[in-house]
Amino acid sequence: MQFEFLSAEADAHPLDLVDGDSLGNVREPALSWAKSNAFKAAEGKLLIVPGKDGAIESALFGHSDKPDAMLNLAALSKGLPDGDWRIEGELCDPTLAAIALRLGAYEFSRYRKESGRSIRFVAPENADIVRANRIADGICLARDLINTPTNDMGPEQLEAAARTLATAHGADVSVTAGEALLSEKLFMIHAVGRASAHAPRLIDIRWGPLSAPKVTLVGKGVCFDTGGLDIKPASGMLLMKKDMGGAANVLGLASMIMGAKLNVRLRVLIPAVENSISGNAFRPGDVLQSRKGISVEIGNTDAEGRLILADALALADEEEPALLIDMATLTGAARVALGPDLPPFYTDDEQFAAELEDAAARVFDPLWRMPLWQPYKSKLESRIADTNNVTTDGFAGSITAALFLQRFVEKAASWAHFDVYGWNPTAKPWSPVGGEAQCIHALEQVLSQRYRG
Ligand code: BES
Ligand code: MN
Ligand code: ZN
Repeated sequence: MQFEFLSAEADAHPLDLVDGDSLGNVREPALSWAKSNAFKAAEGKLLIVPGKDGAIESALFGHSDKPDAMLNLAALSKGLPDGDWRIEGELCDPTLAAIALRLGAYEFSRYRKESGRSIRFVAPENADIVRANRIADGICLARDLINTPTNDMGPEQLEAAARTLATAHGADVSVTAGEALLSEKLFMIHAVGRASAHAPRLIDIRWGPLSAPKVTLVGKGVCFDTGGLDIKPASGMLLMKKDMGGAANVLGLASMIMGAKLNVRLRVLIPAVENSISGNAFRPGDVLQSRKGISVEIGNTDAEGRLILADALALADEEEPALLIDMATLTGAARVALGPDLPPFYTDDEQFAAELEDAAARVFDPLWRMPLWQPYKSKLESRIADTNNVTTDGFAGSITAALFLQRFVEKAASWAHFDVYGWNPTAKPWSPVGGEAQCIHALEQVLSQRYRG
């Protein structure tokens, strides 16, 4: 749907926020209309108020102006009739309110006609609209990339999307694809992706002044995950277009960082592959060489994400970034532990974890720290190689995946790993069912606090 912010002077229908059961601040004739409609102003409930001529005059919205209700304002974008609206009064976090309104208007309309809806809001007083748009654009980019099915979002198209973003911000892109991966010693990216008709590749974006602190983002770009020869059942494969959710998230975050011109030397690494089945597919029991020189026995071809990330992380680690972040739809186990809406993250950096948890709470971008529990490292032992890619008992699947990745990071001053779901399975005011950005709003807050240009 069409969405726009209007300037303060614009003529618009007033929308009053009504807190709880009391209609105390509602004046006539809206008060009588509310009573005759039994409108109780419960959080998130909307009532349109007509004028004498029957045309739309104003609206009431049940809303406690508390930080944790801010995202519920998203319900207005699709709930209100087309037209121009002004939220009356002050909001406790006007920029977050503006982001919520934008997110509430999100539609994925690539494959059918748009709803045709059009709504405009007077920019909430004191909102930083430029920043709100930048953050919402990043989130919507991630959603669009995830929602696009693999026939239109394979490794080539993911590369094209990365190039489009890079070009928009004057960033440099280099891509290593197909056999060339072998000469760059990116053996595991090649092995995972070589069975696909669409060549595996490593997308490498660089942006910002060379002298600025190095921040590197790595995103799992498995454009489709069949499981490989350890094939997934139909139910487990159905949603696997979203297995590039980590890549989508880091591109969304990169767009926020570059848009804000943060003082960082940014690098984005995306191993983009399709985990397919063919005569040349990698097999259970194979031993792969890796960029880092660690040999990896394949216990399960469906644990492919950690393999491609390991090569990308090893490469990233070589230039000793100040901060190395990876995001990946890495394990089903993360969902078993915390559910779809609460992604676990892992880091040894206490300061970073504290800043991130604080930011996550402030902008309601939930995440939960889980431990890099070193005693579980022994579960990844192989009889013939330096490590296996899976454990035999399957316990603590998200932790052991994180521990696997940790072996490939040595020199980065700080490393954090995010095991995201990348999908919203139940509609929320700010998000329809479908691809979802996770943790990047919180990360944007931390990075812009640290590296404001
Ligand atoms: N992409 C999946 C993980 C996944 C599945 C994330 C469903 C979100 C929803 C990943 O490549 C995978 O298949 N992981 C396996 C690892 C196992 C073989 C050790 C898993 O989680 O089952
Ligand atoms: Mn898999
Ligand atoms: Zn996967």
